[in-house]
Amino acid sequence: MENNRIDLLIHNIGTLITMQGTQEPRRGGEMSEVAAVRRGAVAVRDGIIVAVGSEEEVLAQIGERPVTHKHDAEGKLVTPGLIDPHTHLVHGGSRENELALKLKGASYLEILAQGGGILSTVRSTRQASEEELYVKAKRSLDTMLSYGVTTAEAKSGYGLTLEDELKQLRVTRKLNQDHPVDLVSTFMGAHMVPEEYKGRSQEFVQLLIEEMLPEVKRQGLAEFCDVFCEHGVFSVEESEQILLAAKALGFGLKIHADEIEPMGGAQLAGKMGCISAEHLIAASDEGLEAMQRAGVIAVCLPATSFNLRLKHHARARTMIEMGLPVALSTDYNPGSSPTESMQLVMTLGCLNLGMTPEEVLTAVTINAAHAIGKADTIGSLEAGKQADLVIFNAENLAYLPYHFGINHVHSVFKQGKMVVS
Ligand code: NIG
Ligand code: FE
Repeated sequence: MENNRIDLLIHNIGTLITMQGTQEPRRGGEMSEVAAVRRGAVAVRDGIIVAVGSEEEVLAQIGERPVTHKHDAEGKLVTPGLIDPHTHLVHGGSRENELALKLKGASYLEILAQGGGILSTVRSTRQASEEELYVKAKRSLDTMLSYGVTTAEAKSGYGLTLEDELKQLRVTRKLNQDHPVDLVSTFMGAHMVPEEYKGRSQEFVQLLIEEMLPEVKRQGLAEFCDVFCEHGVFSVEESEQILLAAKALGFGLKIHADEIEPMGGAQLAGKMGCISAEHLIAASDEGLEAMQRAGVIAVCLPATSFNLRLKHHARARTMIEMGLPVALSTDYNPGSSPTESMQLVMTLGCLNLGMTPEEVLTAVTINAAHAIGKADTIGSLEAGKQADLVIFNAENLAYLPYHFGINHVHSVFKQGKMVVS
């Protein structure tokens, strides 16, 4: 009988949103198909969901099996744990000094061209010890978790020397081991051409291709490789060279594409078969079509366009109408998006991208899971997947983005363990 035991039964869920459905990322109308179960329950064993649905169904399924712990959800809203598929989690310092410059009208690329922006965070990150980076990133990860995030992606890219990139990536690996939030690691040595390579970008590209990518691979420190394809950063040709080398080594591919200027990054994402392309604020119709044909997931970052005070946001409505799967993310970083709050991103997804609450939830759960290659284990509540879920102080989904700027989390379960209460 003991082997039969249910570790956890969460019952009396007022509104249960499971996000069950297709194995593929959700596109078009599928992004709105968000069924809610009234008076639901979830049964968990060894961190994995064994039954989920209405209380009646779940109780019938578990039958006489003994239950170790029962948790009353008090009639609240339950969703899958939120997934943040694009963050620059590990970095030194902060850049509140840029706020005054921004208010005086300086643009992101102007601040960068003057040696600020990413380059100032590169200086702080190089100076920081591994321990300092760990302590700072852990604080952010605690905040993410308290706002309902159970898995996040984390990029390097503020070291820009082999040693400093490895330092960032080791911090991600250690946090992944120590912290309840699972981390998916991305190598982003192609985040910027460092000052010591100014005017010699091709040499830096060679360093990335010949030394950094192979060493990161050898040490197994990242699953994905990302490139910042933008004017004054990496050209489309350079981005392609880097992504080709990464692909040959077996990395999954991501790209920061068409954030500020329509460079053709979205087309490149399609051509290279990237798993996702991020930002896309200035992406052209042709770029989006290339992504659609190749099945690239569009990761939109509405907190970034909000914080950069851009006049335009990513065209999420067009993307959804074209049949592109859309995911949403914080882009948490010290410059363009200093926030860990996926709940704020959900509000901005509605108000600035015109997405419905149902589309937004799809974008921060199952589509976000696909964007980091983890949809087989997370992103929806179904038998066989991890019991990563959030209980919100809300009665329905729309309340989350509607009542904005506060934290609605009541409690968080990661692999069946209560990690926020
Ligand atoms: O995704 N666009 C490039 N990288 C980050 C910003 C990094 C920074 O400003 O420090 C982004 O917006
Ligand atoms: Fe980013």
